[in-house]
Amino acid sequence: SALKALVSAAPKVELHLHIEGSLEPELMFALAQRNGVALPYKRVEDVRAAYQFSNLQEFLDLYYQGMSVLQTEQDYYDLTMAYLQRCQQDNVVHTEIMFDPQGHLERGIAFATVFNGISGALLDAERQWGLSHRLIMSFLRHLSEESAFAALAEAEPFLKHIHAVGLDSSEMGHPPEKFARVFARCRELGLKITAHAGEEGPPAYVWQAIDTLQVDRIDHGNRSLEDDALVQELVKRKLTLTVCPLSNLKLCVVPSLTQHPMLDMLKQGLKATVNSDDPAYFGGYVNDNYHALIDHLPLTHSHLYDLLRNGFDGAWMDDKQRQQHI
Ligand code: HPA
Ligand code: ZN
Repeated sequence: SALKALVSAAPKVELHLHIEGSLEPELMFALAQRNGVALPYKRVEDVRAAYQFSNLQEFLDLYYQGMSVLQTEQDYYDLTMAYLQRCQQDNVVHTEIMFDPQGHLERGIAFATVFNGISGALLDAERQWGLSHRLIMSFLRHLSEESAFAALAEAEPFLKHIHAVGLDSSEMGHPPEKFARVFARCRELGLKITAHAGEEGPPAYVWQAIDTLQVDRIDHGNRSLEDDALVQELVKRKLTLTVCPLSNLKLCVVPSLTQHPMLDMLKQGLKATVNSDDPAYFGGYVNDNYHALIDHLPLTHSHLYDLLRNGFDGAWMDDKQRQQHI
């Protein structure tokens, strides 16, 4: 359609992307072979066939298994460069990517190995294509506060190059307040704050992300719509929601895309954006996510313009990056 072509060609940003979730099965196999890691699959097609999830945890189990093939700095470089090439194809001009240091530290991989590989690719993409970036270090909420503080200590030599911290992994039973002290310390360090909230968890978790963690953005936030006062608060604060339509479908956060709340979010004045989350696992990159919405919701040219602009407004770009793109 004309709208799809318009969105594909438009310059856009991505604000919610787990770099480990961009590991395509082909690269997973190649890295497993390179590093002598055994995978419980015979063929690439078997991996794709396994990607059927009925909730967040079923996905996370395969996501953590998948990242076990990542071991050397080159692996992290190759992973990140493959994602950045997809950005280039999709006309994504600025991306803010998350990584999960605890998922690597736990396996004995040094923070520097992970960081140097990822940022090497980010800097090359900036030089080659002018693709700008921010790096977000995410804490795994199923682990302890102590583990989060330990990861923050490992990050210390690199904090100049880390713009923000996030909170991801299993949401239910791990409310934001579990990490109140960690995020207070991160705020003291001058880091921006985001947190996954209201993906599977209740509106109360979104309130905690706002009031206790003092977030600058909310990742997902779908379930905020169950609480009118919360919607009013998000609108008043102009807090960006990084929404991920294909992720929501694959993790059964919505029963079908025709029932996706994106249009409702825009109508209520929420600063919703379109993102891919874990594109290798959920079946699409940024343009695929826009196209899926266009196919299933009565979105107009004006709604799409708002989504694209909300992305630029919610991005943590500096003046130089903005001038580069706008
Ligand atoms: N939700 C929570 N944790 C995650 C996700 C997600 O969508 N992707 C990677 N870790
Ligand atoms: Zn996510």
